[in-house]
Amino acid sequence: MSIALVILAAGKGTRMESDLPKVLHKIGGAPLLHHAMLSASALEPERTIVVTGHGAELVEAAAQEFDADAIAVRQTEQLGTAHAVAQARDALNGFEGDVIVLYGDTPFITTETLEQMIAARAAHDVVVLGFEAADPGRYGRLIMDGTSLSRIVEFKDASDEERAVTLCNSGVICADAATLLELIAAVGNDNAAGEYYLPDIVGIANGRGLTATAVTCREAETLGINSRMELAAAEALFQQTKRRELIEDGVMMQAPDTVFLSFDTIIGRDAEIEPNVVFAPGVTIESGARIRAFSHLEGAHVSRGAIVGPFARLRPGAELAENVHIGNFVEIKNASIDEGAKVNHLTYIGDAEIGARTNIGAGTITCNYDGVMKHKTIIGRDTFIGSNTMLVAPVTVGNEAMTATATTVTKDVPDGAMAIARTEQSNKPGFARKLFSMLRAKKAKQAKG
Ligand code: UD1
Ligand code: MG
Repeated sequence: MSIALVILAAGKGTRMESDLPKVLHKIGGAPLLHHAMLSASALEPERTIVVTGHGAELVEAAAQEFDADAIAVRQTEQLGTAHAVAQARDALNGFEGDVIVLYGDTPFITTETLEQMIAARAAHDVVVLGFEAADPGRYGRLIMDGTSLSRIVEFKDASDEERAVTLCNSGVICADAATLLELIAAVGNDNAAGEYYLPDIVGIANGRGLTATAVTCREAETLGINSRMELAAAEALFQQTKRRELIEDGVMMQAPDTVFLSFDTIIGRDAEIEPNVVFAPGVTIESGARIRAFSHLEGAHVSRGAIVGPFARLRPGAELAENVHIGNFVEIKNASIDEGAKVNHLTYIGDAEIGARTNIGAGTITCNYDGVMKHKTIIGRDTFIGSNTMLVAPVTVGNEAMTATATTVTKDVPDGAMAIARTEQSNKPGFARKLFSMLRAKKAKQAKG
């Protein structure tokens, strides 16, 4: 069965108090919209249609960043959820199969739940995702008749008896494309909000001799985001879930509550993550690697047996081979560090290649930026870079080479050579003692008068 997604994302999100469209606020480093698209992507949708309105251009760009083939349709006036889905009519032209309607601000619906809805479609024309609400509040209520769903009533329009129902509408609906569009065409706006309600298609379907049912999921899955506090609560829930998944898959975390993960963080079995580590998007940690406390990683790959931190920063393009050691106050950006190499203290390595087993001394800097352009530093294998070496890129240091401490390398260093570039030392006998006594006398004089 072919699937098309219609993701509603035209709403303003007034309560976010933000210039950014609501669906572009992030959880686990990814926009809410991407979470909605991600859980549905496992269904391999033939078409993904995103209905945009407020902040349309930004939302369209985000949709296409996730899926270059996503189709954006505009809803210029927000006249209700049925009206929003109706905007997808042209984009659904020629599509035969089921449509799943999702909300862009509801990030936690699982693939399994969507699969259950598709399975339920075998016996019913319309399938709605419901949940038992702890506090049903202003959600729409599902009015059941046995296993059949008779209709959905919005809170605003519900009688006291209907409001007492705790089975609520998540907003996710699945139906055959042609059926859905026909039902939507029959939806009116004669209700308390004066809006075209998508849930009205259930009552209309029943009136036409079609059938509807509800699939239920945990309330946490249907969590929608309307305010920054709700966003923060959703982030906390995301973090808890992601930590648990990783730990259950064999990752060691002593203080999981202090480890922050992204939607795409991958960590192998027996890897150890010490407290207070942040994984921004794009990080892969292989089995048995160790990320020590207070490190920040983004767009980086750490291979088996490597140790990172404490207090290390891996930026996009950091590629660490097996058994590499990255120590405290070291920043690595767009650089590959080959097997067994060590960069242990107070160092910046950017736009570079470091060969196997090479040791980079404390305080080394690849001077990669001339104020306008970035340049590359290449260092061979089994080389020793002395402490406080400045590598003025573009520059190459060969294999089994050395740089003397405090050398500023401006010329390539051949294999096996040692580079030394610093002013020669001269000692002035007795000068330190003389200077100390002069300075102390001066201080004593100032204190007196
Ligand atoms: C909707 C449902 C309600 C359900 C609840 C679950 C209707 C009429 N009601 O109510 O039964 O319990 O969600 O959260 O559908 N949107 C558009 N264009 C519009 C209107 C809405 O794109 O013209 C989008 C919004 O951006 C949002 C989603 O649709 O992502 C839901 O709209 P919202 O206004 O939040 O609906 P609720 O009143 O919460
Ligand atoms: Mg809502």
